[in-house]
Amino acid sequence: MKATVGLLALATVLATGCGPARRGVPFGPPLQLTERQQRGQVLFMRECNGCHPGAAGGLGPGIANKPLPGFAMRTQIRKGVGAMPAFTEQMLSDEEVDAIVDYLNALQETPGPL
Ligand code: HEC
Repeated sequence: MKATVGLLALATVLATGCGPARRGVPFGPPLQLTERQQRGQVLFMRECNGCHPGAAGGLGPGIANKPLPGFAMRTQIRKGVGAMPAFTEQMLSDEEVDAIVDYLNALQETPGPL
């Protein structure tokens, strides 16, 4: 009996997770990312997630929910805007910036909860 209750509790935790109730990455089917987008995701987690957690709003604004054209995001990353620092070519290569933009576009194309 005790074991059943324990298992039930474990199943509940596994099913609902223990993360925050609302996250920026869209709900729904898991993201189907290309290899480049996956690379972008890793880079995003390393370079951007601190201020744009889950691409939702944090210190910086949410960026998964707006249809910013790629060139605007590239400029934003290279030049920085307001409180956001610029990322130089020593920090991120062009190819890496492209991968991040590609990843963010994938987030935008995925229907969100709203
Ligand atoms: C030190 C914190 C910080 C880091 C790191 C950071 N950002 Fe930002 N980001 C901001 C802030 C703050 C703004 C809002 C700037 C403003 O408009 O004054 C912003 C704005 C943006 C915008 C524009 C959003 C809009 O509403 O126009 C994009 C796109 C963006 N960031 C992408 C990125 C990407 C991609 C990375 C990683 C390469 C990154 N940011 C790293 C703080 C950060």
